[in-house]
Amino acid sequence: MKIQFAIIALVSAALLVKSCKKDDLINKQATTPTPYVIEKTQGMPPLALPADNPLSNEGVLLGRMLFYDPIVSLDSTVACVSCHRQDKAFTDGLRYGKGIRGQILGRNSMPLYNLMWQKKFFWDGRSKSLREQVLIPIQAHNEMDMNLYDLAIKLNNSNRYHTVFQKAFPGQSISPATISKALEQFLVTLISFNAPIDQLHTNHDTLAVIGPEALRGLKLFMQPKENGGADCFHCHSNIPFFGNNSASGSMANNGLDLNFTDKGFGSVTGKDQDNGKFKIPALRNVGVTAPYMHDGRFATLEEVLDFYSSGIQLNSPNLDVNILAHGAQLNLSEQQKSDIVAFLHTLTDQSFLTNPAFKSPF
Ligand code: HEC
Ligand code: HEC
Repeated sequence: MKIQFAIIALVSAALLVKSCKKDDLINKQATTPTPYVIEKTQGMPPLALPADNPLSNEGVLLGRMLFYDPIVSLDSTVACVSCHRQDKAFTDGLRYGKGIRGQILGRNSMPLYNLMWQKKFFWDGRSKSLREQVLIPIQAHNEMDMNLYDLAIKLNNSNRYHTVFQKAFPGQSISPATISKALEQFLVTLISFNAPIDQLHTNHDTLAVIGPEALRGLKLFMQPKENGGADCFHCHSNIPFFGNNSASGSMANNGLDLNFTDKGFGSVTGKDQDNGKFKIPALRNVGVTAPYMHDGRFATLEEVLDFYSSGIQLNSPNLDVNILAHGAQLNLSEQQKSDIVAFLHTLTDQSFLTNPAFKSPF
């Protein structure tokens, strides 16, 4: 009996070796992407990763290469990083983004962080997924002006990308689908939850952590007008994001204009009641993302606070109810405004702005 078993075992082992040829085994080992691990930090919400695009070290690296490489634009002069620089939380410091052939865009470049938790993209919320979003700047005539199929050919002809794509997406071709999946993988790794304010998770002495000015600013930020606050929390306090990422309530008109040159969300839905509404931005790292608003109209945070204090257009159509309910300007004192600015600076995450994992791979 024992001998019979031994023979069966030997025969099946031989069959097994024969069925998966040695070459296949080597290829498989060489090309199976290794999982990318996101280090959980205190206060980070549960991950919301795309189920059909598992993060791998190879995929994230490929996305990072594409992000930093001007090869992605028609004349190889513009990369994503041209308008999204790490030291500015992936904004560009300009009022309007500047694209291919020096063309000036109609909107302010947006910061890129904590994107996996967001449901709408762009100032007007016109894109619902990151994967769909990344292909838009590539093709836009005033940004990168690149046809996606030509881009696939261009990357295919480059030795560098041919190998990296195979490692990230074994057995798949270089295509708009794999290009957008790689960019999506890199973008979701841009996580920022390590600002001074986040130290409150471990040290509950708020005064010691952020100081008296910022503490007064935090209280003003979080309190309604009737309690003497500045009422920012209604729109910007979705903790820990300091933004509003609920699917329905993420767009608002904060009263910048009486007449809209840019209809914002209204241009997406075609409804008058959405005119003048824009994505409520998250305020992490806002200290380094000047200028501000969808059209970059305010050069500094002080100017933003002057606006919220006394510059709101109270008769603006579709003005958000949370501001309309004030019935008047906030009229904050100079001290109150500078306290709120001090608080906003406690949202700046230096480790995010300097993280080597997000720098150019070249
Ligand atoms: C020429 C400047 C420019 C280039 C190049 C550019 N962007 Fe942007 N990006 C912008 C501007 C401006 C916006 C806001 C546009 C709008 O609201 O219509 C934006 C918005 C975004 C957003 C939405 C963020 C949010 O919170 O809604 C993402 C994501 C993004 N860009 C990623 C990329 C990627 C990836 C690339 C490269 C493939 C890229 N961008 C290339 C200027 C640029
Ligand atoms: C009704 C909702 C609402 C309230 C209340 C509100 N905001 Fe905003 N905030 C927005 C929207 C929407 C934008 C983007 C508007 C645009 O670009 O057209 C914005 C933009 C900003 C920006 C610019 C961010 C950037 O990346 O350009 C800052 C800073 C800001 N708000 C701070 C505050 C402060 C401080 C308060 C309280 C005094 C406040 N907000 C109250 C909705 C609101």
